[in-house]
Amino acid sequence: MAQIDWDSLGFDAYRTRTVVLAHYKDGAWGKIETTETFSFTFDPFAQGLHYAISCFEGLKAFHQKNGDIIMFRPDRNAARLQRTAAFLGLPAPSEEMFIEMCKLCVKNNLEFLPPYGHQASMYLRPLLFAPHPQMQLVPYPEVFFAVMCAPAGSYYGAHLRSAAAVIPGDYDRAAPKGTGSYKLSANYAGTFVPYQIAHQQGYAELLYLNSATREFVDEFGSSNFFGIKGNSYVTPLSDSVLPSITNMTLQEVAADFGMKVEKRPVPLEELSEFSETGGCGPAVVITPISHIDMKPVLSGNEVSRTFRYLPDGEVGPACTKLYKRITGIQFGELEDTHGWCYKI
Ligand SMILES: Cc1ncc(COP(=O)(O)O)c(C=O)c1O
Repeated sequence: MAQIDWDSLGFDAYRTRTVVLAHYKDGAWGKIETTETFSFTFDPFAQGLHYAISCFEGLKAFHQKNGDIIMFRPDRNAARLQRTAAFLGLPAPSEEMFIEMCKLCVKNNLEFLPPYGHQASMYLRPLLFAPHPQMQLVPYPEVFFAVMCAPAGSYYGAHLRSAAAVIPGDYDRAAPKGTGSYKLSANYAGTFVPYQIAHQQGYAELLYLNSATREFVDEFGSSNFFGIKGNSYVTPLSDSVLPSITNMTLQEVAADFGMKVEKRPVPLEELSEFSETGGCGPAVVITPISHIDMKPVLSGNEVSRTFRYLPDGEVGPACTKLYKRITGIQFGELEDTHGWCYKI
């Protein structure tokens, strides 16, 4: 049994027991393999290395209250990977193959799956990468698909906490009609430096506006945006936002609670009308936002505007209710009425 302090896990790369692999070449997938060697070898001219012909997914497996082990909505991740791969001109695994490889990854690394009761889970990271050596800017139908995993904490323990976000005036995330709605590895490269600056200034999150006009809210650097207004759950409709599975789930849960779900452009001005706002993604389900500062220059001192929702650390009733419902279903404490949990 791995010696892991389940209560102090963060969200980090982790060396577990095995990685599950498959290789697509000459029009077909080779057999699914597992390896305990935590290193891959590629040609130095691999397209994935030079041209970022690489994309990935992120989903979670949970140890439930009754001892079952489940993955949460892997079918949605399989579909999103197919959509991203098509954008890159690459073949993608079928839903069946995707789920089989994710299951195998969980089964092979069971000692790294946090036991029930620690608010922790196992993060699965499927990666599709183009290993073919090629200089020309044309897709080559050879891919390498790997599923790796890492035990992951909840960040919060049993209690949610809110954090501050910043709108950077001098950075955009995604161009209109560009790559923003695909889960491309390349999309994340441009967020590293602004995140570093934001974190140094005490902001947990970066909130990006639509780059064409900067008049609408797009999403956070690693999660979707939502706001609560009266009895409505409001989330941006935008071509350059990643279609988040957590957000999709929150919308269904909000509707179950009798809330109105509004998926539409969210003008920047509307940030002052929400009672609560949050980020949503698989790492933490919800990051409640205490306040959002607008800074013309991220590294500068000027704050041109602040949208305040809560004192730092406090969490509002809607975020609490939504978070508890989703994590309750994931940990098998509440009934899975939508059939989101795939038993392993
Ligand atoms: C930019 C971005 N938006 C949204 C999300 C949330 O997507 P999902 O809930 O499907 O993981 C992520 C992934 O974590 C992300 O990187």
